[in-house]
Amino acid sequence: MSVLITGGLGHVGSWVAYQLAKQGKQVIICDMAAGRFENLGLDYLETVRDKLILESIDVLDYHSLFEVMLRHRGDLEGVVHGVSVIAGPNFQTRPYKHTTINTNGTLNVLETCRILGIKKVVNMSSGAVYGDASGPQSEATPYKATDLYGATKIAGELFGLQYTDTFGMDVRNARLFFVYGPGKRPSDMHQVYQAMFGPLEGLDNILAPNGSEQALDWTHVHDTATGIVQLFEKESVTHRNFNISSGVTVAHTDIIRHVADLIGKTSNVQLGPGVFVGRGAPLDISLAEREIGFAPKFTDIREGLHDYWQWLKGIQGRA
Ligand SMILES: NC(=O)c1ccc[n+]([C@@H]2O[C@H](COP(=O)([O-])OP(=O)(O)OC[C@H]3O[C@@H](n4cnc5c(N)ncnc54)[C@H](O)[C@@H]3O)[C@@H](O)[C@H]2O)c1
Repeated sequence: MSVLITGGLGHVGSWVAYQLAKQGKQVIICDMAAGRFENLGLDYLETVRDKLILESIDVLDYHSLFEVMLRHRGDLEGVVHGVSVIAGPNFQTRPYKHTTINTNGTLNVLETCRILGIKKVVNMSSGAVYGDASGPQSEATPYKATDLYGATKIAGELFGLQYTDTFGMDVRNARLFFVYGPGKRPSDMHQVYQAMFGPLEGLDNILAPNGSEQALDWTHVHDTATGIVQLFEKESVTHRNFNISSGVTVAHTDIIRHVADLIGKTSNVQLGPGVFVGRGAPLDISLAEREIGFAPKFTDIREGLHDYWQWLKGIQGRA
């Protein structure tokens, strides 16, 4: 059997692809970055390369997306949809374009699945659908958008729920939260991420504009991907929305301290006043624990940071 992953070369999608390929599944990755695969530094995907089919596709190019999914549908178990422009300062720089990718991109994937009779879709959503509601936020916490990104994730979820109710599809929303870890270099991320995780890569002198007064349940990407794979593989579910995070809140200032302890050096990194994004924490992950057997491994962020550091050192060593 095969699984198609949109955004399968992204931080989360690439680990979902890796885990499924490791199980022996064929994984079809539809990602705009497919033509640059060799330069992305996703060393773990190179180890399962024979299980991957790479398709360079823009999800906004509906006809090409449709053709690719038509070509692969025979053996398809389902789709994991992971294309989005993620939250952060970049989102506001091109609001119309980024909103279109997140909303119309999701709609294009769902519509193609509907026409081709592909029922099962796991949609990578976000704890952003709760906005700044105070934690713990359960799946029963009402929708609240505190930024445009959050609005797009709510829209994507609602599309999925309506495609399920109206057309008998089986769309499951995985509400992810602040992901860190192997596969993403801090130097490719925004300043708040760089201030916290950058010293693991040797970055120094990072002055981020905000984020010092925030605590979030940062989640190691292996745990995020495991939760998505478990949700995808569960034969049937009694709920549609599942929180997938570490479930443990950590202050941003503590992350900076843990990183300094780990590398044995205090770097010149600072977070400015206030919060990075309007979010509460943590997500209540008890539903995912009960229903799909989700059990995050890196609940002590120090272990997750250590694993991340090892990966960053490994890719620097090979460069
Ligand atoms: N990273 C987080 O902290 C986080 C938190 C909550 C939710 N999420 C959600 O998880 C999902 C994955 O996030 P991520 O961190 O892996 O993102 P990412 O930016 O690392 O990956 C996105 C991938 O999508 C591809 N892409 C972008 N636009 C495309 C398009 N138009 N057509 C085809 N491919 C396109 C990119 O090339 C990239 O490989 C997203 O839906 C995001 O909203 C992420």
